[in-house]
Amino acid sequence: MASGKGFAKVILFGEHFVVYGLSGLASGIKNLFTEATTKKVDSGIMLIDNIYNRVDNLKEDENFINARVLKPVLDELNIDNIEITLNSSIVPEHGMGYSAALSVSVIRALNNEFNLGLTDEQVNELAYKCETVSHGTPSGIDNTCATYGSLLHFEKNMHGEKNKIEILKLSKPFYLVFGDSGKKGSTKELVAGVRKRKEENPEEYDKVFEEYKKLVSEAEDALLGGDEKKVGELMNRNQELLVKIGVSIPELDKLCKLALENGALGAKLTGAGGGGMMISLVENEEMQTKISQVFKENGFDSIKIKIGE
Ligand code: MEV
Repeated sequence: MASGKGFAKVILFGEHFVVYGLSGLASGIKNLFTEATTKKVDSGIMLIDNIYNRVDNLKEDENFINARVLKPVLDELNIDNIEITLNSSIVPEHGMGYSAALSVSVIRALNNEFNLGLTDEQVNELAYKCETVSHGTPSGIDNTCATYGSLLHFEKNMHGEKNKIEILKLSKPFYLVFGDSGKKGSTKELVAGVRKRKEENPEEYDKVFEEYKKLVSEAEDALLGGDEKKVGELMNRNQELLVKIGVSIPELDKLCKLALENGALGAKLTGAGGGGMMISLVENEEMQTKISQVFKENGFDSIKIKIGE
């Protein structure tokens, strides 16, 4: 028996822009994760999925989504005769990096079960291959957060070489509240939509991308300097840019408005958009509770997290 974890993620700055090689600031969330537990069996590769409540033989049903997503792992690590059980505190399809966390948890559990000696970097590379099955042309930010579980600066290398990954240490934690739009978004479709609109409107999109580039550099300085007011302002501007590239939806806009009207320092969608989650930055735990309550009164679920500890 062995087990492994993959962490949820929150993108503070950079969804969609990171796909084109611009910097992103994101964090793994240590207390929200998918956990895989493995057990050697006599035959087959069984997946007991306690999230979707189904049991599948991955060798027999090769078209099942988890069979396709995990194929690069099972092939590359030459895995057979195993039972994998999945549990998760991350809600799938909500912009919290569930698919990446799932792959990382399975790779880590197999690494431990078979003493494969994979480093974090190798776990991350393999998880990226799984992400390409789920999302087409992912940047790699989700699997990187799922692997490292920490706040990081991420930059995709557009020439296929190593991505830039820098773990960031903050002098004090930042308090955030996720607001759940209650809608599902498809990362693959949203990324493809941005690509199409970008190709159709190159000048308009170039301006947005240029502005984001400056914004994210200021955001990193503000984060490292503990200037939460500035981080909040930049999150608001980032949300305006995400609206411009067409990935927000009315529910996410409403959640951002509610957060700001009730004293949050900043608010933006997080993840691919089109549904899923938004995040609001607040000053302290008291404000976290207040914003959560406001979301609840308006019919939205929420999750409180701290990052940068
Ligand atoms: C999804 O969590 C983030 C996107 O930027 C896609 C990616 O980076 O692969 C929308």
